[in-house]
Amino acid sequence: MDPVTDDLGLLAALGGGDAGRHPLPVRIRDALVVRIQRGELRAGTRLPPIRALATQLAISPMTIAKAYKLLGAAGYAEARTGGGTIVRLPSREPRHIADGPFPARPSAPGNLSQLLFELARSPGVIGFTGNYPAPELSDAEAFRATLARLTARPCESWFRYDPPAGREELLARLPGFLARHGIAAAPADMLVTSGAQQALDIVVRALVRPGEAVVAERPAYHGLINVLRAAGARILEVPLLEDGPDLGVLEDLLRREQPRLVCVNPTFQNPTGITMSREKREALLAIIRRTGVSLLEDDHSPEMRFSGEPVPSIRALSGPSDPVFYVRGFGKVYVPGIRLGVLLAPAATVPRLLEVKATTDLQSPAIMQGALAEYLADPAYLDRIAAIARAYAERQKRLTDALSRALPPETEWRIPEGGLSLWLRLPPTLDVTGIYYPAARCGVTFAPGEPFYAANPDPRTLRLSFGLTPPELLAEGADRLAAVIRSMAQSSVPASVMV
Ligand SMILES: Cc1ncc(COP(=O)(O)O)c(C=O)c1O
Repeated sequence: MDPVTDDLGLLAALGGGDAGRHPLPVRIRDALVVRIQRGELRAGTRLPPIRALATQLAISPMTIAKAYKLLGAAGYAEARTGGGTIVRLPSREPRHIADGPFPARPSAPGNLSQLLFELARSPGVIGFTGNYPAPELSDAEAFRATLARLTARPCESWFRYDPPAGREELLARLPGFLARHGIAAAPADMLVTSGAQQALDIVVRALVRPGEAVVAERPAYHGLINVLRAAGARILEVPLLEDGPDLGVLEDLLRREQPRLVCVNPTFQNPTGITMSREKREALLAIIRRTGVSLLEDDHSPEMRFSGEPVPSIRALSGPSDPVFYVRGFGKVYVPGIRLGVLLAPAATVPRLLEVKATTDLQSPAIMQGALAEYLADPAYLDRIAAIARAYAERQKRLTDALSRALPPETEWRIPEGGLSLWLRLPPTLDVTGIYYPAARCGVTFAPGEPFYAANPDPRTLRLSFGLTPPELLAEGADRLAAVIRSMAQSSVPASVMV
């Protein structure tokens, strides 16, 4: 096929279902980008003269000229002096990703964290993969100063073993921290854990025997799914509605399957960003009380609220005799990487939880616990965390403004009231496997939805996390992704043959 004289496949591509929604030059640009990404138009190829192509497509030469200009602006073409437009690859195109070893598409959830971590840092890539905070948008500086003060003092106890439940001064400090979130708890009800992840693992390993049923949200945090799988749990999924899990389905499962545990992530749920309404939290608590099933509440980062009113955690609404296990991590909002969390549990279960904690790591690092206790002692952190949340709100707005402008209208998504992720459902003709590699070749990556499902993943879903993405690249990343989605949606070739 000679690209200089053919219609570049544009006649077929422009007849697609996207007609009318985007201006013709944009659709021509997108169709050309797809062909360049697929390698059908190679760098150095001279595009057909504007007039010749216009005649072939029976459209105005101005439209082609505009499309070539847009292609150039996207970095996929350059106008040569003396005439002609030449295909090129964008300079930020991650050549090593397009040409070299590319990590396998994450299908095993166990690999996902590592893969997302690597993808988010690949040169030239605008990564929406890691649901992590940016180090510059955390309270790391204050924490560093606390650590420096701490280590300057003579205190050998920071370098010795502590009891598995946690270091005394941190256990003494945590009730005050939790009280600010409406939670009444005593040191005897709590364990300091190595991140929220370990808390989830401890509860599941302490409560669930292989083969027992556990209810999880559909979709759910993939780290929870991993924990449940490792414990040999039979995972029952309850679909998430706009205001939280479908309680009708939950009641039905409770009757039929008598699960051991129900797991929820009620505020800015990972991956969907959905926040469970207060009414639903109260109704869920009533169900828990009536049936006696245990509840695992992963209260991940309620501080990251950008709009709407705070909703109390289920633990805040419950009493000490309710079978509620409450998990909170300090890595997402406060200081990434400190690997500390807290687990609140009904008092009678604490000894069993401590046994499990001791079998995994004996204790969480003493010096980090000491520093966290000291850090939490000065309430000035509250203002700093509020300022961090405002900065993330601004980043979320940049991203969602750009997506609102650029995504085809059949894409299903909503703007969550907080959290560092967005959940997208692609237009009906698309499958995430069809856009994953084209998007990576265009220098934008995301987390496919599959690992967030225990079974039968919805192949149209994906998660965009913006915590680590430099703010000046958010709109560009949204544009790259939306261009791929638009091109694939309007391409006549089935998505599955493009990878
Ligand atoms: C919903 C949810 N729970 C728990 C965790 C684990 O948190 P931590 O880093 O405190 O172990 C994460 C991390 O992304 C999460 O998104």
